[in-house]
Amino acid sequence: MTTETKPAADRESATLNERVTWTNRGCAWVRSLFTDIPFAQEIYSVMVDRGEGASTENIDGLTKAGIIPYFEARYKLTNRFLEKSGVTQVLEVASGMSPRGLDLALQDYTYVEMDLPSESLIKKQVIEGVCRRKNIASPGKLFFEGGNAIDKDDFLRACSHFDKTKPVVVICEGFLRYVSFDGKDLFFGNVRDLLSETDGMMVTPDIELLSDNPNGDASHERMKEQTGIDIRKNLFKDMHHALSYCYARGFEAKHHSPTGVMQNLASPKKLNISNEEVYAKLATRHAFVLTLIKSKALPGRELL
Ligand SMILES: C[S@@+](CC[C@H](N)C(=O)[O-])C[C@H]1O[C@@H](n2cnc3c(N)ncnc32)[C@H](O)[C@@H]1O
Repeated sequence: MTTETKPAADRESATLNERVTWTNRGCAWVRSLFTDIPFAQEIYSVMVDRGEGASTENIDGLTKAGIIPYFEARYKLTNRFLEKSGVTQVLEVASGMSPRGLDLALQDYTYVEMDLPSESLIKKQVIEGVCRRKNIASPGKLFFEGGNAIDKDDFLRACSHFDKTKPVVVICEGFLRYVSFDGKDLFFGNVRDLLSETDGMMVTPDIELLSDNPNGDASHERMKEQTGIDIRKNLFKDMHHALSYCYARGFEAKHHSPTGVMQNLASPKKLNISNEEVYAKLATRHAFVLTLIKSKALPGRELL
């Protein structure tokens, strides 16, 4: 499919999102320096050797935003849901430089990482570098798919690695804030079609609520200056908006708080942050597990 024939929202999301690929460098920096997440240090070290570490500006922004414990919490909470589900086929969209794919593929998962083509290629090479350094002969069933998660054809291609008779978990972590509501509609449609075929769930800490921070924050302004993306327009208004949005698109969304993994975080100690401070930082953040509503005839659905 050529760019010209794609729907407008789809085109817009792909071009806008190419402007945010650099954000994955900062996430990798956080994990490597402040957490005990497996393979985080090895990945970042290969990135740095390739000249692909986070920029000073990116590091500064993350430090000022006080977001480091949250980044660790969202990663660990996502892992917890995945483990609990017992599902061993995963599609992680917008996977950036995340170590989860390598970690789980070595535990015999079928793991598909999807990111925009340029990042996907870099990630593949970074993982090859880590495997060489750690004498890992093969990362197993770990696949890198370059593409736009909003685009139907790209999404389907990424899913071709799965055994469709078994359930799949879709993960997105640090993606939806960059995607307009038109783009989200297409993405949720892609996930719904996949889960209708395979069953499973979507796990995401990406449903951010404007009501938690009505005036926005400095990071939103910075992002607008740096990328032209107005994050605030892409956030859900409040919990009601988030839940009804998911419901209208065929999902039941269960809310969880990242405070649930507070005791498992390494970063507060490294940053010398008190429990009270960490709790306050995590309390306005959210994670959701989305499963398909099986009956399309649920009362009231058409009203949403
Ligand atoms: C904030 S980073 C998060 C990366 C990773 N999930 C993590 O937590 O480290 C956002 C990522 O989204 C990717 N991305 C943005 N738009 C995308 C799209 N339409 N399809 C696939 N990936 C996309 C970027 O390339 C980038 O790697």
